Amino acid sequence: MKLTIHSGRPLQGEVNLPGDKSLSHRAALFAALANGESLAENFLVSGVTAAMLRALTAMKIAWTLEGTTLIVHGPGLDGFQPAREALDCGNSATTLRLLAGAVIAAGIPAVLDGSPGLRRRPMERIVHPLQLMGAEITAADGGGAPLRLSERSRSEPLKALQYTLPVASAQVKTCLMLAALAGDGPSTLVEPSLSRNHSERMLSSQGVEVRAFQTPGGPAVEITPPDGHLAPLRMKIPGDFSAAAFLLVAALAVPGSDILLHHIGLNPTRTGLLSALQEMGADIAVLNSHESSGEPAGDLRVRHSRLHGLTISGSRVVDMIDEFPVFAVAAAFAEGRTEVSDARELRFKESDRISALCAELRAQGVAVTEKPDGFIIEGSGAVHGGAAADPHGDHRLAMSLAVMGLGASQSLAVQGAEIIGESFPEFVGTLQSLGARIEQTL
Ligand code: S3P
Repeated sequence: MKLTIHSGRPLQGEVNLPGDKSLSHRAALFAALANGESLAENFLVSGVTAAMLRALTAMKIAWTLEGTTLIVHGPGLDGFQPAREALDCGNSATTLRLLAGAVIAAGIPAVLDGSPGLRRRPMERIVHPLQLMGAEITAADGGGAPLRLSERSRSEPLKALQYTLPVASAQVKTCLMLAALAGDGPSTLVEPSLSRNHSERMLSSQGVEVRAFQTPGGPAVEITPPDGHLAPLRMKIPGDFSAAAFLLVAALAVPGSDILLHHIGLNPTRTGLLSALQEMGADIAVLNSHESSGEPAGDLRVRHSRLHGLTISGSRVVDMIDEFPVFAVAAAFAEGRTEVSDARELRFKESDRISALCAELRAQGVAVTEKPDGFIIEGSGAVHGGAAADPHGDHRLAMSLAVMGLGASQSLAVQGAEIIGESFPEFVGTLQSLGARIEQTL
């Protein structure tokens, strides 16, 4: 599918956004680990969460979707059934890494696999610590999927783990937290800086003893294996801040824009982009702050603003890890120099987001320099546009390039835009409802 983006029309109005992707993945899987019926409203129905639900079905875990309300009949850790075939995680590294931890805790054999893109993602980061726990798990040559997990009797616990993650990662942390549910004692995981802590919040709400504390090496979390069953979930998932990010930058870039985004998740481990944009001069107000099922949430009002460049490095990278494609677009519309460092991890996302971003921005006339661990953008306050944009099979790059088109001087076409359905199927419709002129062609 091709999107042709016409620039210039201001964005105005109010919208609700689909549920948070990270919370939706966790709600589906953690509900399966519980015993009894769980319910999650505003569940994200999209390509990546379909992969998680498909895997649950393959392990005979019953769930239904009524609109965007997910109901899961959790069999608990003892009730997972081996699948007949490999669990197909599609393009979703979150599905694969979280499932690996849960399946190991459940003790069933499994093969975890996915698309060619997913097979290229690094998996030794979970395989090595899981092996330290005594799990029998192997990766393909080269360290990626398919992962093969052997059966383990539930009467033989895994070894409790004391482990420092080399790179802050919520997927790795969550994988290990789930495996730790079947440990022979409390496990402790230390990260160089705090990655999103949704799993900590959700597992505690299910009655698991989860203790977060500081160590000289960084933030730590200790998980004590539960004596009994995990409690079912009852939650309303807030709108995805990572989806809101595209609308925030779109409104900032297009003169005359003024939009309101309702009920967005504002967990501080996720909102690094919000503070970065505010520091760049963005007019964004947080209204109606509240808690939603153990997660901070609120409404965001954003108006077109003139931005200036900003330097991002160190632990700030983690709080906005998924937002660099759209942050780069904001930087392209800003005046002055923006420099990102310490972000080598971006090379291991759905695409190599450093090289792909630099190539795509350059094609649209932006002055950008690639660095091993980031990039430098010399913003001139405007973007020329006009060239065909290639999202490199990456949903966030596709949406970021579309946002760039809304503010550019010339229309821009994004090829391969169906990839957007992986995380935000309503992206085009939402922008159109706010006034954007976008044409879709097959
Ligand atoms: C996620 C964690 C992040 C993020 C991904 C979702 C999660 O990945 O990029 O989109 O739900 O835990 P890493 O943990 O690999 O940084």
